[in-house]
Amino acid sequence: MRSEKKFAENLARKAGTLLKKKFSENRDIIYKGEINIVTDADKMSEDLIVKEISRNFPEHGILTEESPAIAGTTPSRWIIDPLDGTTNYAHRFPFFCVSIALEIEGMVSLGVIYDPMREELYSGLRGGGAYLNGKKINVSSVVSLSQSLLATGFPYDLRETPNNNLNYFNTMATKAQAIRRAGAAALDLAYLAAGRFDGFWELKLKPWDTAAGALLVAEAGGEISEISGAAWKLSSPDLLASNGLIQKSIMEILQSAKNQLRFIDGKPRRIF
Ligand code: IPD
Ligand code: CA
Ligand code: CA
Repeated sequence: MRSEKKFAENLARKAGTLLKKKFSENRDIIYKGEINIVTDADKMSEDLIVKEISRNFPEHGILTEESPAIAGTTPSRWIIDPLDGTTNYAHRFPFFCVSIALEIEGMVSLGVIYDPMREELYSGLRGGGAYLNGKKINVSSVVSLSQSLLATGFPYDLRETPNNNLNYFNTMATKAQAIRRAGAAALDLAYLAAGRFDGFWELKLKPWDTAAGALLVAEAGGEISEISGAAWKLSSPDLLASNGLIQKSIMEILQSAKNQLRFIDGKPRRIF
C-alpha cells in the first residue's frame, strides 16, 4: 500500500498543479443543471488522473465524477474527484482540491486530498494515521458545540426541494460558534481531520466527495456517522463528522431541525 500511497500523492500533486496553473485563465463552463457546472479544468484534471491510473493499475476499477465508471478485474477501485469546489474554481475563489481514494474489497484503504493553492497535501492509510505535508494530524479537542466551528454545504438541487439543508443550517446557526460554507466538501473533511473545523455535516454527497476525506477524519481520531447516528457508508444519504466530542450534540440539534415545520408556497409542510 505504501507504493500506492506515493503514487496517489504524486498524482494529486500533478493534477492540483495543473489546476493551479490554469486558475487565472478563462474558463469553458458547461451547465449540468441550473447551478451545477463542470469546467474544462475538471476534465483536464480527470483525464490526467484516469490516464495515469489506467497505465499503472490497468486491473483496477475507477469511479470518477465526470466520466462513466471503468470496471476493473480486481476488487480495487479508485474513487476520484478531479476538482472538488468547481463553483469556487470557476469564480476564482481559491478553495478547491483534488481528492483521490483507493477502495479495496468495499473498504477505503487510502485517501489523498491536495489543495494546490496552499500546497497542502493530506494523506492517510487505513490504520496508519492522517498526515498533512508529512506531519501527523489530529482532530480538535473542543468539547462544546457553542465553541465549535462547523462546516456544511448545500446540494445542487436546493432550489427544487425542501430537503436542501436550509432547515438544518438555520437551526444550527444559533447553536455553533460559527458555520462556514466554503464550497469544497472534500477539503472541509480534510480541515476537520487537521483540527481546523470541529464538525461537518452535509446531505446528498457522492462517493468522490467523501471517500478520501472520511478516511482522513477517521485516521485523525474523528467520528463519522449518518445524521441519524446510523453507521455511515459511501452510499449514505447524509454524513455527519466531528472530533467525536461534539458528535452527539450536533446529532441532537439536527434531529430537532428535522421535525420543524417549514412554509412552502405559503403552506406549512413537515420536512421528513
Ligand atoms: C461540491 C462541493 C460542495 C458541496 C457539493 C458538492 P463539486 O462538489 O463539494 O462543497 O456542497 O455538494 O457537490 O461539484 O465542486 O465537485
Ligand atoms: Ca465534489
Ligand atoms: Ca468535482
